[in-house]
Amino acid sequence: MTTTIRALFALFLIVLVYSCTQDELINPLDARLNQQLRSLAPNGSIEDFVLPAADDYAAIPAGRQNPITAKKVALGQQLFYETGLARDARHAEGIGSYSCASCHIPSSGFTPGRAQGIADGGSGIGTTGAARTKHYAYAEDEIDVQGARPLSLLNVAYVTNTTWSGKFGAYYANEDTKEYWGHPDEDTEINHLGLDGLESQNIEGLIIHRMSVDEYVLDTLGYRSMFDAAFADWDEEERYTRKATSFAISAYLRTLLTTEAPWQEYLKGNQAALDEVEKQGALLFYGKAGCYRCHQGPAMSSVSFYALGVKDLDQHPVSLATGPDDIRNKGRGGFTGRTEDLYKFKVPGIYNMADVGFYFHGSSKESLREVVQYFNAGEPENDRVPKEQLAPQFHPLHLTEAEVDALTYFLEHSLRDPNLERYVPSQIRSGNCFPNNDPQSRVELGCN
Ligand code: HEC
Ligand code: HEC
Repeated sequence: MTTTIRALFALFLIVLVYSCTQDELINPLDARLNQQLRSLAPNGSIEDFVLPAADDYAAIPAGRQNPITAKKVALGQQLFYETGLARDARHAEGIGSYSCASCHIPSSGFTPGRAQGIADGGSGIGTTGAARTKHYAYAEDEIDVQGARPLSLLNVAYVTNTTWSGKFGAYYANEDTKEYWGHPDEDTEINHLGLDGLESQNIEGLIIHRMSVDEYVLDTLGYRSMFDAAFADWDEEERYTRKATSFAISAYLRTLLTTEAPWQEYLKGNQAALDEVEKQGALLFYGKAGCYRCHQGPAMSSVSFYALGVKDLDQHPVSLATGPDDIRNKGRGGFTGRTEDLYKFKVPGIYNMADVGFYFHGSSKESLREVVQYFNAGEPENDRVPKEQLAPQFHPLHLTEAEVDALTYFLEHSLRDPNLERYVPSQIRSGNCFPNNDPQSRVELGCN
């Protein structure tokens, strides 16, 4: 009798002690994930992976000359979608018909929803971008397309040097590249202004994509007062320039944070935000599959460059106006000309990839499962890339089918913010259709 009571009491004590020490970490998967994340965190804390709130301007990485303010963000949010900026179209048919968002569509994870983006010289959109084609009034070499798939703009506040080659921005990865600024690529002359990546690139972007803020935009479309409010402390000569336009757009882009993704909810302490399979996927990402070696920090990206031997965009059947000699195919090497940089591309952010549909710089994969399988096989697909350039981390991973499934599900579901519409304006100042405003897109978007 007494032994039974003692045994019961001992059992009671064990249960009590166990539940106290385990606290909320009853689930062993949560405990392992927690431990794994802490061991990889630069400051040893889960906080290192948490994105700041989109309105916590002090916590979001900003350009050094461009503090984020509500007025800049409000202006940038209009300009990014404003088809009225399409002033410098190659043909009359293109004027007022495209915007930055033509190639960075929110519902397609801020990518074009097709293998290649088309702005000036494009027609149509479908529902998410897939149905855009070349406009009949344009020759192939007249349309605005690039030789790489547009990057997503989500969590771009963490990108210190922009584009797949990291060529824009005067600091960080480009500190030792001054000798290449302006040669051979004239666009990179902009780095001499001493600005950060986004602020530099978006000045060039306005030129490349044939957009201007002129009297028509300021006075007829009514943007002058918004520039006055956002740049009240700037001289009038500077206030309506491409630089101011870039600063406003950059401030807006820095607020595009995927804070409502289940993975972010989980990191903030809601263990029910992920199911068991997603937690297994996360554990693979931060463990056996080694993805964390390159996809780092809150944005799961890094401004470092690797060759994975994926195909280039000219090798994709639908790409226009690119070819085997496109400078973009050389990756960072196309910017620096250094042999060791050849075929190496920046590690992109990977939130909301489920919305993108076309993966890698050449859009050679069309599902996230294919992407995971590509990493799992560790076999390059592009003969142009010499074996010795390939990233040493790119090798067979020996994941089982079930592990491939779990990792894929983690990418598809846990990393998908389901509410990006909160960043999209309900209308733009001109009242125009957006992101596209060509006749075909207007019909498809239900404008008019
Ligand atoms: C014709 C399609 C197209 C249009 C229009 C367009 N972009 Fe892009 N964008 C791209 C492509 C392609 C890339 C990748 C270029 C590269 O790596 O060489 C890119 C990259 C970017 C990046 C870099 C992201 C990163 O992580 O490095 C930013 C920022 C950006 N675009 C902003 C804009 C803004 C702002 C506008 C409007 C002024 C704009 N884009 C208009 C196609 C487009
Ligand atoms: C050696 C560094 C490295 C490792 C390890 C790595 N990645 Fe990447 N990842 C990259 C680079 C670089 C790219 C862009 C390559 C390109 O397009 O040329 C990329 C692209 C991607 C993309 C496509 C993004 C886009 O915009 O198209 C996804 C998704 C992705 N990685 C997921 C993963 C997963 C999952 C793992 C683990 C199995 C992983 N990565 C491991 C460097 C890495």
